[in-house]
Amino acid sequence: MRFCNRPYDHFHITHNGKTYSCGWASKRMIGILSEQTVDEIQNGPDVQALRDSIEDQSFRYCRDTSCPYISNDSLPDLSPEDFRKEVDARLGKPPTNFNIAYDYTCNHACPSCRDGLFKTDPGYRDMMARMEEQLLPYLGNAKFLEASGNGDVFSSTYMMNMLSKVKPADKNCLITLETNGVLVKRNWEKVSHLEDYQLTVIVTPNSYERATYQELAGGFDNLDFTMDSLDFLCELRQAGRIKNFIITMVIQQANFREVPAFVETSLTRFKADRVQLRPMLPWFKLFHDKNFALRDLTNPKHPDHAEFVQVMNHPICQDPRVFHWSGKISA
Ligand SMILES: C[S@@+](CC[C@H](N)C(=O)[O-])C[C@H]1O[C@@H](n2cnc3c(N)ncnc32)[C@H](O)[C@@H]1O
Ligand code: SF4
Repeated sequence: MRFCNRPYDHFHITHNGKTYSCGWASKRMIGILSEQTVDEIQNGPDVQALRDSIEDQSFRYCRDTSCPYISNDSLPDLSPEDFRKEVDARLGKPPTNFNIAYDYTCNHACPSCRDGLFKTDPGYRDMMARMEEQLLPYLGNAKFLEASGNGDVFSSTYMMNMLSKVKPADKNCLITLETNGVLVKRNWEKVSHLEDYQLTVIVTPNSYERATYQELAGGFDNLDFTMDSLDFLCELRQAGRIKNFIITMVIQQANFREVPAFVETSLTRFKADRVQLRPMLPWFKLFHDKNFALRDLTNPKHPDHAEFVQVMNHPICQDPRVFHWSGKISA
């Protein structure tokens, strides 16, 4: 039986406190942290529906192109007894895996993500404070702590402030910070205590070509800061101060021809442990875009689909350090 621990262990808080078990699922919301307690959400009917869909093996809320585990057929396959043990070990327990990227603030406005810079309203600061107060006691027991998926953690004063207070008891806690990279070097001191844990940093520059970088960042030319941060993270990784260094490219019309050169630079200059190639997906602002298929290079009807397939099959994209987020596309 296939097992996914997300509806049991994960607590993924996004903008305005909307809380998910899994951000990739079609049924995502299990509660609202700015209005409910962690306990209320973790024992509510929505999370139960997701657990039922794992226990009856229908996975009816999972979207296979968004979920890298389903796309790559890598969910653990357990005997019925082991499956039951995994479920029973988790019932009635608080979540241990957190995604705390609930601040939408970002210094970029990538067109794959949003339509311009985010402006906060007057109640925003109080809401952020309430959520931090709710969450902090749980984070001391975290086994997995992620700040990714909403806004940019290094450009958020709330996130930097909260992360400066987070000190999980378990030194094996897996911590992941995902960023566009611009402010990593400048703000590293605020999170350097996280080097005591199993720390992964993921950077998504999307391009190392200035014009493409600027277009995909929504008009902001921060390439030099990003390159400095990538060199800095490469040094931290080589010194063993971070445990994993990942570079992502969201592949879309403006950058798909750059994929081989991007992978080459990521692996040689920045010595990334992994390069993630992720076709642009109907996420974020594209979630409701009825014309998404016309912009989707994985769509066989897209005029550049054949060239996209060729690029994705370039020999450097077969390097074992290259991860094809939505599965490999055969030529
Ligand atoms: C929303 S960002 C938040 C973290 C950080 N600001 C960053 O850009 O890495 C999370 C990841 O989603 C990627 N992304 C943005 N829009 C996307 C889309 N439509 N499809 C797939 N990935 C996307 C970003 O490039 C980044 O790798
Ligand atoms: S993808 Fe990341 S960097 Fe770009 S606008 Fe969204 S949150 Fe900001």
